[in-house]
Amino acid sequence: MTCAVLAFVEGAAPAARLAAALGIPCHAVDVHRFPDGESLVRVEQAPRTAFLYRSLDRPNDKALELLLAASALRDGGTTKLVLVIPYLAYMRQDIAFHPGEAVSQRVFGDLLARACDALLTVDPHLHRTHSLAEIMPGIEARAVPAAEALAPAFATMHDPLLVGPDEESRQWVEAVARPLGLEVLLGGKQRRGDREVVLTIPEVGRVAGRTVVLVDDLISSGATMAAAARVLRASGATRIEALATHCLAGPAALEQLRRAGVAAIRSTDTVPGPTGSLAVAGLLARTIRDRGWLA
Ligand code: R5P
Repeated sequence: MTCAVLAFVEGAAPAARLAAALGIPCHAVDVHRFPDGESLVRVEQAPRTAFLYRSLDRPNDKALELLLAASALRDGGTTKLVLVIPYLAYMRQDIAFHPGEAVSQRVFGDLLARACDALLTVDPHLHRTHSLAEIMPGIEARAVPAAEALAPAFATMHDPLLVGPDEESRQWVEAVARPLGLEVLLGGKQRRGDREVVLTIPEVGRVAGRTVVLVDDLISSGATMAAAARVLRASGATRIEALATHCLAGPAALEQLRRAGVAAIRSTDTVPGPTGSLAVAGLLARTIRDRGWLA
């Protein structure tokens, strides 16, 4: 076997979509959990070129198994190992914000880079770091923009106004708005805690009577989108939707968004969940082909 996608059970469906887009087989990575919580990871076959697929939502549970699978593939004879990590965790802690804190982005980037020859992800949260190359030395690391996969969310909307909830969202909202020629408004956010933000939107009067779509790379606790939705609702937006590349929010956070006035929540399938209907397989496959990684 020359090329194959290898998938853990929870990502079997999106990994199969990637394999189909590439025209190569998709095989399972088996994980056995021992009573003490350790994992035994096993790959049935080690293709010469392996696309090892796993999103790293719940990273503390999933990352170690990913590294074990990478090692098993190497031991089995894989010579080109590409980690396909649609949602790449630990990217937000890019500096020590307070004395004594670990710089998680640097540590995690280094760990992953040691395990593979190349890495592919979607819209990583890079803020002060400008490219993955800075934190993943010695490998080819590529970030695929999700904007094209998000575009179908606007298919049936008339003249929506796109709102980025904070300055960090500028790159994401502009990437979506530019090709579609849509109007953009940016907010400003101050984070007071994991689940508490204070948010203002200058020129918010422009939302009155409009369909407004909140766009960000990530919905986690939902606090950012919920705070933005409350401001938009109070300012007369007629319909509010939320659109994100990665949605990590659980049922309680999604309910909080609905209560704040968000009528629809959509995201890509980088993270499995009820909002993740927009597939990124085509974009991943295109990059894999363009980089010549299928050879
Ligand atoms: C941070 O700047 C990100 O772009 C998101 O705005 C943030 O991670 C969302 O987190 P939460 O949903 O917990 O407010």
